[in-house]
Amino acid sequence: MLSAPRPFLTAQQIRTRVEEMGVQITTDYPDGPIYLIAILKGAFIFMADLARAIKTPTRIEFIGISSYGRGKTSSGEVKVTKDLDVSIEGHHVLVVEDIIDSGVTLTYLVNLLKQRKPKSIRIATLLDKPDRRLRPVDVAYVGFQIPDEFVVGYGLDFAEDYRNLGDICVLENQ
Ligand code: IMP
Ligand code: MG
Repeated sequence: MLSAPRPFLTAQQIRTRVEEMGVQITTDYPDGPIYLIAILKGAFIFMADLARAIKTPTRIEFIGISSYGRGKTSSGEVKVTKDLDVSIEGHHVLVVEDIIDSGVTLTYLVNLLKQRKPKSIRIATLLDKPDRRLRPVDVAYVGFQIPDEFVVGYGLDFAEDYRNLGDICVLENQ
């Protein structure tokens, strides 16, 4: 039985929190450029808003990661489907993610990017579901910690649907 998405975080709540994150990041990085690396596709809307909230010079990059065998959960097998177009060697990297669940995706990605010798590497995630963690992840910036619910909207999908919702909603009974 498919229920309508239940509003969880409004567009206004998200906007306010993303602005705060931008202020914090601007303070923490007085010197740019910061290489913002968004993980496709879920982080694309968060990236667009966060980038504009950061006043330090940034560069915008995207990386594609796929994790196999998932409905609502990670299989643990991760692969790069679209790599970066640039070298990050010697640069500040901020990985921009929509949501951290098991931590499998980010553990894999951060290890991969560290091999490319960035000057620093940190993670900014809009949402964090700490109850679901299988691998410890060191996250510098978290928008909202949320309970173990499946959420969609503001870039997040279920089977590619709902990414364009302005609010973040809980999807039940799927
Ligand atoms: P992890 O590797 O288990 O941390 O998975 C993180 C990825 O799973 C995120 O980038 C999302 O693509 C997806 N994901 C995890 N939880 C949710 C959710 O509640 N809604 C939508 N996608 C999710
Ligand atoms: Mg994602």
